[in-house]
Amino acid sequence: MKILVIHGPNLNLLGSREKKFYGKTTLAAINTELASIAKKNQAVIKFFQSNIEGEIVSQIQDSRKKFDYIILNAGAYTHYSIALRDAISGVKAKVIEVHLSNIHAREKFRRESVIAPVCLGQIAGFGKDSYRLALEYILSL
Ligand code: DQA
Repeated sequence: MKILVIHGPNLNLLGSREKKFYGKTTLAAINTELASIAKKNQAVIKFFQSNIEGEIVSQIQDSRKKFDYIILNAGAYTHYSIALRDAISGVKAKVIEVHLSNIHAREKFRRESVIAPVCLGQIAGFGKDSYRLALEYILSL
């Protein structure tokens, strides 16, 4: 199984950014935990973070033929990026949408995900464990 984890804008600041929503764990620590779970399960996992919408679009396009699944936290782009949605629709890799916070329990503008309809499913509200749950689902297949 080949899995790509994409972290969108502002997620490089995890650990110091709005801890009440996103927790104290850094992005590096999340990636380390996921890498160790993947290794135990003989899966290949790669990580990418960008604050730039176009770079995330390119990364999704490049996943063609290289990855079976993408775990995607698109950050704020979740709520308005049709470009990201189109990129997801255009590739074979199946995408699982994740969020640390429960986007449905926050401001109204966060309740809509424009990418949700083209993703396999959504995991939101479990902090860093949202990523782990997505990975464990993939590994269980
Ligand atoms: C987020 C939720 C988004 O609404 C927000 O813009 C983020 C993080 C989350 O993981 O909870 O940057 O995707």
